[in-house]
Amino acid sequence: MITLSGIQPSGQLHLGNYFGAIRQHIHRQNTPDQSYYFIANYHSLTSLHDGQSLAQYSLDVAIDYLALGLDPATCTLYLQSDVPETTELAWILGTFSPVSLMEKGVAYKDKLSQGLASNIGLFTYPILQAADILIMQANVVPVGEDQKQNIEIARDLAQKVNHSAQKELLTVPEPLFVEKGANVPGTDGKKMSKSSGNTIPIFAEGKALKKTIGTIVTDSKGLEDPKDPESCTVFELIKLFATDEKADEIATAYKSGGYGYGHAKQALQDLMDDHFGEAREKRRTLAQRPDDVMDILASGGNQARKKAAPLMDAVREEFGLLKTKIDL
Ligand code: ADP
Ligand code: TRP
Repeated sequence: MITLSGIQPSGQLHLGNYFGAIRQHIHRQNTPDQSYYFIANYHSLTSLHDGQSLAQYSLDVAIDYLALGLDPATCTLYLQSDVPETTELAWILGTFSPVSLMEKGVAYKDKLSQGLASNIGLFTYPILQAADILIMQANVVPVGEDQKQNIEIARDLAQKVNHSAQKELLTVPEPLFVEKGANVPGTDGKKMSKSSGNTIPIFAEGKALKKTIGTIVTDSKGLEDPKDPESCTVFELIKLFATDEKADEIATAYKSGGYGYGHAKQALQDLMDDHFGEAREKRRTLAQRPDDVMDILASGGNQARKKAAPLMDAVREEFGLLKTKIDL
């Protein structure tokens, strides 16, 4: 079994990314599956053309994954752009994609409604994502629910190609959705997202973290008033970190009164400090050794490319792309 997932390096990773995706990726490295995780830097180009930022965000995502516990000895961490076969396959998949399939893209429509300028890369984003998945012959793709349609498109394109080739040239992937933390709320109570400016970064700490948690919107009940934990964003976030007993304890305090939102916010910060303490330490060390991180990515890129190249050869052959003896 092959597990694969990717994450865009388009800004600081946040709690939504952690609970919706990264945590599952790290857990799954303990299964016997072969796991591939990659930094989707071609995808980020659909919204970011500042090369320095993209390079920095890409390195940061690698550092974040490693600090959070991804073990490069048991899984392959690589940069999407180190496997250019991906874009080659994407072109071929594009020739199997009706324009109407892309026009139904929920993510595309969402991005436009958020004011992002439309471009062909954004429009055909799901085709590149399908290529990421299909080039590595992934069976399982752990992602947040918001990726459902993109995985459906990857399945659809694999089936179309297989139908045309009259054989199982491409593996049809299955999505794997998370239960807990499927939709992490941001500081404004709406879905946490980089583009909404409501994120709590995974690696925020100290005063900066306190300031961010301080902006989580609550109702205006006073300290003494009994409060409803279930309608409170702070409590929703607490539940992601706390054991069931700890969450019950805090819920009881909410309902009894005499427990203010300031207390709840402090509890959230303490839980985050506990949860990410070790990772923060590891991150500080890794950030001082960017060359080591680049070496890990290079080794992952080599492994990934070795997997991708033979499939790309088979696809070229299937569709009659003649192979000459050109040499560079
Ligand atoms: P963003 O919306 O911040 O740009 P991405 O679209 O890059 O985040 O998402 C990366 C991964 O994190 C995806 O698998 C997605 O499902 C997950 N994810 C992002 N935001 C959330 C959220 N608020 N709750 C749960 N999962 C999320
Ligand atoms: N679209 C994904 C996201 O926004 C990132 C991604 C790109 C991805 N290619 C992928 C996820 C392939 C899983 C598999 O989170």
